[in-house]
Amino acid sequence: MDEKGLIRRAVEARERAYAPYSKFAVGAALLAADGRIFTGCNVENASYGLTMCAERVALFKAISEGAREFTAIAIVCGASPCSPCGACRQVLFEFAPDLLVIMADADGKRTKRARLRELFPEGFGPHALKGCGGP
Ligand code: THU
Repeated sequence: MDEKGLIRRAVEARERAYAPYSKFAVGAALLAADGRIFTGCNVENASYGLTMCAERVALFKAISEGAREFTAIAIVCGASPCSPCGACRQVLFEFAPDLLVIMADADGKRTKRARLRELFPEGFGPHALKGCGGP
């Protein structure tokens, strides 16, 4: 996997962030197991609570295009690498508990790496619902 390439795609996505309220632009690039890359940026709203994070935009785009397995995500924020929020950790965990999370600053130079499982230990996922008569 070309980590630099993935970070570059997240940097480009960040340029499209719609963040007039927080002024905190975020970009994400999610690598699917089949090699496709899905990008996302944060999309804020005048009704603040409806803001959507870059990571979830990328994931929802991917799911809607038929991808279901993912190996890595690059997330690019401001002056220093930032880690995904709790809501994004939960949503990513559904599909990729072992996802490699690459966190980078705005120019993609300072980076940190972690597995989603480390960032989200004992996460609630599909396995928890096994045997409950659900889907
Ligand atoms: N944000 C993301 O896009 N991803 C994260 O993981 C953390 C926060 C966005 C949401 C909001 O538009 C701005 O950053 C400030 O919280």
